[in-house]
Amino acid sequence: MPQTDISTREPGGVLWLTGLSGAGKTTLAKALKQRLTDERCMAVVLDGDVLRTGLNAGLGFSSADRRENIRRTAEVASLFKAEGFVVICALISPAAAQRKLARAIVGERFFEVHVSSDLSVCEARDPKGLYAKARSGTLAEFTGVSSPYEVPTAPDLALDTRHSSIAESLDELDSFVRSHIRLARSQG
Ligand code: ADX
Repeated sequence: MPQTDISTREPGGVLWLTGLSGAGKTTLAKALKQRLTDERCMAVVLDGDVLRTGLNAGLGFSSADRRENIRRTAEVASLFKAEGFVVICALISPAAAQRKLARAIVGERFFEVHVSSDLSVCEARDPKGLYAKARSGTLAEFTGVSSPYEVPTAPDLALDTRHSSIAESLDELDSFVRSHIRLARSQG
């Protein structure tokens, strides 16, 4: 298969990591950002959990609030993309319509990356203890338990963290970025 010619593209692009809580989105996003910035490439992470402490504080987990969470994040991602950044967004973004909205806001050089894992695996990991709370009924509308996750049907990239280590998934994501996004290096 011929290599995608990215040399004539504008620099920057958006990787939209979607998947269940505990699938590995944040871990992969941070590791990729580290790799890129070690090479002085301009990269930034927009993480749902972090954004919800500031820009998106006050938004909950109803479908309307999740949509607004995603809309705002996509707008910010679009601004960073225009400055040449690789923008790595890590949000559950459970509905296909929400991800479609993000793609429409960002426009070209938007890549949907499904970080997939079985619900049972995420639940066993339960890094924040949220699955346990959702099962006991003390946390409502929790994705995968009491709120749906619509599996992407045609993601630009699918990373299966059940069968690959984080290091392997990171390598896959890294090579995807280099073949689809022109990287911009910071000066100085
Ligand atoms: S999204 O659905 O709107 O895309 P987002 O990625 O911003 O979600 O936030 C998900 C994070 O919020 C989870 O990683 C988890 O830490 C926390 N969280 C708290 N309550 C919920 C809930 N009801 N459903 C999903 N995540 C929740």
